[in-house]
Amino acid sequence: MNRKKFLLPTVMTALLVFLLTACGGKGAVADDMRPAPEVTEPAQTGGAAEAYTKYADYEPVQAVPAELIPGTNHNVLIAYFSRSGNTNIADGVDAVSSASLTVNEDGSTLGNTEQIAGWIAEITGGDLFLIQTEYTYPVDYDQTVEVGEGQDIDGYHPNLISHLEQVEQYDTVYLVYPIWHYTLSVPTVAFLDEYDFSGKTIYAFAANAGSRFADSIEKIQAAEPEATVIEGISVSQREMDGAKDAVSAKIQELMEEVPSMGETSEKEQTAMKMNVQVGTYTFTATLEDNDAVRELTEMMQAGPVTINMSDYSGFEKVGPLGKSLTTSNSQTVTTAGDIVLYNGNNIVMFYGSNSWSYTRIGKIDDLTD
Ligand SMILES: Cc1cc2nc3c(=O)[nH]c(=O)nc-3n(C[C@H](O)[C@H](O)[C@H](O)COP(=O)(O)O)c2cc1C
Repeated sequence: MNRKKFLLPTVMTALLVFLLTACGGKGAVADDMRPAPEVTEPAQTGGAAEAYTKYADYEPVQAVPAELIPGTNHNVLIAYFSRSGNTNIADGVDAVSSASLTVNEDGSTLGNTEQIAGWIAEITGGDLFLIQTEYTYPVDYDQTVEVGEGQDIDGYHPNLISHLEQVEQYDTVYLVYPIWHYTLSVPTVAFLDEYDFSGKTIYAFAANAGSRFADSIEKIQAAEPEATVIEGISVSQREMDGAKDAVSAKIQELMEEVPSMGETSEKEQTAMKMNVQVGTYTFTATLEDNDAVRELTEMMQAGPVTINMSDYSGFEKVGPLGKSLTTSNSQTVTTAGDIVLYNGNNIVMFYGSNSWSYTRIGKIDDLTD
C-alpha cells in the first residue's frame, strides 16, 4: 500500500500561518481525553482447514466463489462479509442456532450483513460483492463464535477465495461487516489486507449483537491509511426489523454530505487553496467547502492568521484560533496532513491519526515520503 507520511516537525517553536504558527510545549488541551490510535500487529496468514478445526469440531469445506452481482452504478462497491455465504448451510440447516441467520421458507438463508448490504445495493445501485473465506465456518452459531474468536486471538487472517477484478473503477466502498470478538471480523481484516483503497471513500456499516462499531473504524483506517473512512451505522441483530429505513436515511445523509464522483472532479478544479507556514516549512493545503472555512477565509483576507500550537499526544499540533467558527462536526478518523477545527475554536493539524468529532478545514497537499 502507498503509505506516505507527513513529516511535520515534532519539536518546533515556529509559525503555522494560514498562516498558522506552531510551538513546542504542552497545555492547550491538557484535560482532553482523546484516545491515542491503536497500533496493529502484523498478522499471520494462511488457508489450511486446520486453522478452522482447531477451534471447533466440524468439517469445513472449500468454498465455491460467488459471482459479483453487478449493479447500475459501477463507481460504487458494496463489499460484505456474512455467515451466510460462508457457512456450508446445506449440510445442516436444522442445526442453525442463531439470531444471526434468517432461514427462509425455501431453505435459503439470509445473514444480517447480507441483508444490510442488499439494501445498500438497492439504494445506491452499486456492485455487490461477497467476501468469502477459503474454508467455510460452522453451521452452528456457537461453534462459529469459537472459530472466529480463536482466529482473532491468534491473529490469523484467513485466505479469501473470492477476489475483485476491477478495484480502480470504484470511488466509493460500502464495507458491511459483522463485529466479531469486539472488533472487526477476521475475514473483513483479510479483505482490507488484500486491496489498496487509497483515495477512495469507505463507508462502514457494522452488524453486531451490542458492541456497535467497537474499534472497527480505527481498524479500517489503520488498514487503509490513505482512504477516507466514514462511519455509517451499526445495526444490532435485535434491530434488524425496521433497520432498512435507518440504513436508507443514513445513506441519504451521506450522499448529501459527499458529492458524487462527477461533482468531486468539478469541485477539485475549483478547490480553494491556502498557504500554511509551519516554522520554516511552507505547504499548500486544499480547503473544505463549509461555513468554518468560509469564516476562516474571511479572517485570512484581513491578514495572515497566526496560531501558537502545542504538541498533543504525539499525533497532532493544536492551538487556539482566538475566535469560534461555525462547526459541522462529525466523527472523523484523521490522517497525517489533516487540518481540522476542534471544539469550534481550536485548529488541529495532524502528523498522525486520531478518531474524534471534528469539523474538517483542509488537508496539506504536498505530503512527503
Ligand atoms: C464469531 C462471532 C463473534 C461475534 N462477536 C461479537 C461481538 O464481540 N460483539 C457483538 O456485538 N456481536 C458479536 N457477534 C454477533 C454478530 O456480529 C452478529 O450476529 C451479526 O449480525 C452477524 O451478521 P451475519 O449474520 O451477517 O454474519 C459475533 C458473531 C460471531 C459469529
